[in-house]
Amino acid sequence: MTFPDGFLWGAATSAHQVEGGNTNNDWWDFEQDPTSAARSSSGDGIDHFHRYPDDFALLRSLGHNAHRLSLEWSRIEPAPGQFSRAAIAHYRRVLTALADTGMTAFVTLHHFTNPRWFAARGSWLAPDATEVFARYCTRVAAELGDLMPFVCTINEPQMIALHGYLEGYHPPGIANPVRWKHAGAALLDAHFAAVRAVRAAAPSSQIGLAVQLPLLAPVRTGDPFFDTMRHEIVDRYLDNLTGPDAGDWLGVQYYRKQWVDGASPTFFAPPRAGTPLTQMGWAVYPDGLREILHRAARTGLPLYVTENGIATEDDTEREQYLTDHLTAVSRAIDQGVDVRGYLHWSAFDNFEWSEGYRPKFGLIAVADDFTRHPKPSAHTFARIARTGRLDP
Ligand code: NOJ
Repeated sequence: MTFPDGFLWGAATSAHQVEGGNTNNDWWDFEQDPTSAARSSSGDGIDHFHRYPDDFALLRSLGHNAHRLSLEWSRIEPAPGQFSRAAIAHYRRVLTALADTGMTAFVTLHHFTNPRWFAARGSWLAPDATEVFARYCTRVAAELGDLMPFVCTINEPQMIALHGYLEGYHPPGIANPVRWKHAGAALLDAHFAAVRAVRAAAPSSQIGLAVQLPLLAPVRTGDPFFDTMRHEIVDRYLDNLTGPDAGDWLGVQYYRKQWVDGASPTFFAPPRAGTPLTQMGWAVYPDGLREILHRAARTGLPLYVTENGIATEDDTEREQYLTDHLTAVSRAIDQGVDVRGYLHWSAFDNFEWSEGYRPKFGLIAVADDFTRHPKPSAHTFARIARTGRLDP
């Protein structure tokens, strides 16, 4: 199985999960709140804030030709309308170091965290949330656009809405079906506004959205809640990515198959006994990635897999997951789907939100003293990336 020439190979991280010391956002507050679902504080992250030059060099040495990371909004705009020149200078150094390695940058403007002040004024439910977000996007695109060949506006808007406003285990910790849909709609609008903002200030950047698309199935045929869930997670976004503000590409993030159950207090049924599960309790289903890529292809946008990975302590399991999912990508390409890159989640073991540091998603382990240790799967990935073949 051979991947097309020019295919992008890399891994992804996000600012709050790796940088450390992001104390001015809503996630930090959620982590410190003993009544929230968060198990621990993100603390120092994996100190990527200081170690980014070595981290990029290591990833480059492991065959990566692309890398996805995010900018921390709360550092760049610590108070409403006040932009930190020091934070912007920091990210200019980060993105310059990345460009100097030769890796293509995918830069996410919003990856789950909101500045504390944005949360205090109602986050995505505030009537002017979109304009406020667009102001930040404009500033970032104007300051850093020359270093952002690929811009991802918002990471997983549907998961921000689902986890934060229906399931309640991400900030703002709300469990309300009306607000869930409201947040989902607001985040789609925020994507369109961000596309307009970045296009105006950084016309040479290619702009996209990253959606997580689990393979959804009803636990009972005819469960009306299934249609609601599919609408909020899949169709609301994919059906609307058609106009001029849709963007230039679409990021597909795929991890698992999920069974929707409107009668369950958690909205999903646990996988059937015997299904292989990850440390997150997720059901592994590689061919779902091929199916989901076909669904995403109906938008007509070029696709990048911007996340895919497994939480496991057993790296042999990770190698299997990786090759099985790349097989699914390769099949989709053979079937005519325009997939142009694959970014594994994650480059490093890191802070997995409400689950803390326990789940291990990384190709590279991080020791207590922050030293980095590539796992065998990192070398397997390097071979595939260097040869563009699954069976090198
Ligand atoms: C989705 C998110 O974008 C990322 O932040 C998270 O760590 C992974 N998937 C795994 O849950």
